[in-house]
Parts: sequence; C-alpha cells; structure tokens
Amino acid sequence: MRQKLKLGVLVSGRGSNLQAIIDNATSGKLNATVSVVISDNKDAYAITIAKNSKIPVVIVERQDFSNKKSFESAIADELDNHHVGLVCLAGFMRVLSKNFLKRFPGKIINIHPALLPSFPGLDAQKQALEHGVKISGCTVHFVDEGTDCGPIILQRTVPVLEDDKEETLSERILREEHLAYSSAIELISKGRLEICGRRVVIRK
Ligand code: GRF
Repeated sequence: MRQKLKLGVLVSGRGSNLQAIIDNATSGKLNATVSVVISDNKDAYAITIAKNSKIPVVIVERQDFSNKKSFESAIADELDNHHVGLVCLAGFMRVLSKNFLKRFPGKIINIHPALLPSFPGLDAQKQALEHGVKISGCTVHFVDEGTDCGPIILQRTVPVLEDDKEETLSERILREEHLAYSSAIELISKGRLEICGRRVVIRK
C-alpha cells in the first residue's frame, strides 16, 4: 500500500469541496489525508469545516504582506511545513504566480465550475447560461500561470435545463464537483497521471 498522499487545501470561502475531500479521505475512499487547510480569508466557512475535522488551519491574508511574493512565500512555507505532496485549490480566489508554481511543479490542481476551456474566470455558471450552452459541468485541471487553463485531468457534465437559473445550475454542477475532485486526487495518489504537453494521460 502506498503512503497516504498529503494534501494542502487552499480555500477562500464556503468549503463544500473541502468537505467532500475530507469525507472521502476520512472514510478511506481516498488514500490521502488533508494535512493543512490554508485560507486567505479569516471569515471563510471552510475554516470551520477544517476545525470540525481537527485539521490544522492557517490563515494567510494578503493585506498582512507588503507584496504578493511574500504572501505567496508564506503560503508555500506552510505547505512545506506540513510536507504536502499535492496542493488542491478549492474555491481559492487568487491567481498564483510563477514563483509559487515553481515550488510545487506538477503538484497543484484546481476545480472550475465549467467545461474548460469554455468559461474560465469568475461567474462561470452565469457565463454558460448566458451563452446558451445545453451541457455544462466541471473541470479538474493542473494549475499553470494562466487563469483556469492548465492541463485537464477530468471533467464531469450536467445538462443545462430550460428553466435553469444561475443558482440551480450551480447546485447541479457542484454535486459533480464533489465527485470529480476526489476522483482526480485518487488518480494522482495512485500515480496514474502523466502530463504530456497539454494532455494528461491516465494510465491503467
Ligand atoms: C466551486 O464552484 C469551485 O468550482 C470554484 O469555487 C467554488 C468553491 O466552492 N472554483 P466551495 O468553496 O468548494 O463550496
């Protein structure tokens, strides 16, 4: 049995993806453990979620640092202190710089509530509705320097219904996010992913 993959989860808000990851790690569905949760927002509900599961939480707020570099270094140092092997962005509302990415090459993933490369950035569900797509979903991807544009690990789809509002579509997508994120972590924990250029190959 491989050693458990140590996860560092970066959050800014509600934390429902964090909760799903914790649940799957605690139940043993995932061969992983959440070693630390780092929030850039002291009021994030995700902090309560982590504390309820007795997971170490570190709050690192941008306003406490004179520049982005020192802010990101503080986050990276915390991840190192907890020997994190995979950094999971779960509703983390900041774009990470090249400096940060260099410290965890190929070890940072993100979840986005749309079928990338469509509708990156904020309000992805609203963008999808406004565009009139009939299918949407979520994407788990490796993080590169751009916004929501690194190599795609996996996607899950949902139908867009005639009477959907942003809220109803978001809820439907979120249910798939909770499944998708753990599936991606599982593949990584089993060493089954290989990045070949822009493509992520899933090995048997
Ligand atoms: C999710 O929709 C995720 O795809 C996006 O931010 C939202 C975070 O939700 N990046 P939660 O904090 O995990 O509930």
